[in-house]
Amino acid sequence: MAKLRYSRIQARKWWTLSMALRILFILTVVLLMLLGLGIFSLPISSDDAPPNDLTTSYRRLAAERDDNGLGNRGEQWTEILSWEPRAFLYHNFLSKEECEYLIALANPHMTKSTVVDSKTGRSKDSRVRTSSGMFLRRGRDKIIRSIEKRIADFSFIPVEHGEGLQVLHYEVGQKYEAHYDYFLDEFNTKNGGQRTATVLMYLSDVEEGGETVFPAAKGNISSVPWWNELSECGKQGLSVKPKRGSALLFWSTSPDATLDPSSLHGSCPVIKGNKWSATKWMHLGEYKI
Ligand SMILES: *[C@@H]1O[C@H](CO)[C@@H](O)[C@H](O)[C@H]1NC(C)=O
Repeated sequence: MAKLRYSRIQARKWWTLSMALRILFILTVVLLMLLGLGIFSLPISSDDAPPNDLTTSYRRLAAERDDNGLGNRGEQWTEILSWEPRAFLYHNFLSKEECEYLIALANPHMTKSTVVDSKTGRSKDSRVRTSSGMFLRRGRDKIIRSIEKRIADFSFIPVEHGEGLQVLHYEVGQKYEAHYDYFLDEFNTKNGGQRTATVLMYLSDVEEGGETVFPAAKGNISSVPWWNELSECGKQGLSVKPKRGSALLFWSTSPDATLDPSSLHGSCPVIKGNKWSATKWMHLGEYKI
């Protein structure tokens, strides 16, 4: 009698255990099915607007990353400006401290900017380009390396394909007339091949003028939200108003590596204030330094 009761208790225990295991198994299967069907998803950030024309900006929150940069960059997001030329704007690409750092490094060494002679491939003085500038060697220090890594991530082009950072300064009246970043001579494409992309970082705000203008851009150029703040020169094409810390990425080549004439661009004369910028040119191949 006692033995019978004992085994009954034992059987009850086993029954409870196997029931619990069965329920656990069923719950797991249901959870996997929900995940598989996409009804239930693990929390991952999502985009809040589809890509569209100039009127709707496409925002994407960039993941916060510790990349050894200087200072606090704040909220970052990107915006599609145009597909002809292919141009994208990255907000808060550089922190205020990084902008100040680049200006302080370059300021004591600024010399009058030159342009490349399309016949000889050498640098020459020109009234087309009236700014002053200097190059900061690639990989020069930890902060520059961090910025160069960020540029590589943004453009999907390896750091090794980039020229040194060129810091430029435009005072009132100074400009760079519309030109292409790609070369039409043999000399300048020997190292790294053709220039394919440009990342232009604004190191200062400009009170008036100083826009980057794409006069050959296709699409409705007056639909940009900052249209009414543009100078006369800025209204000649698709324009970007300089904002400290923003980076403009545009491509001089189409995805098949042919030259893209819609990438024609210039820097409008500064009307009020000062313009500081830093440019990174990226080549199709490795650029030896
Ligand atoms: C261009 O955009 C502006 C502002 O959104 C609008 O008023 C204008 O009608 C547009 N023009 C064309 C040709 O679509």
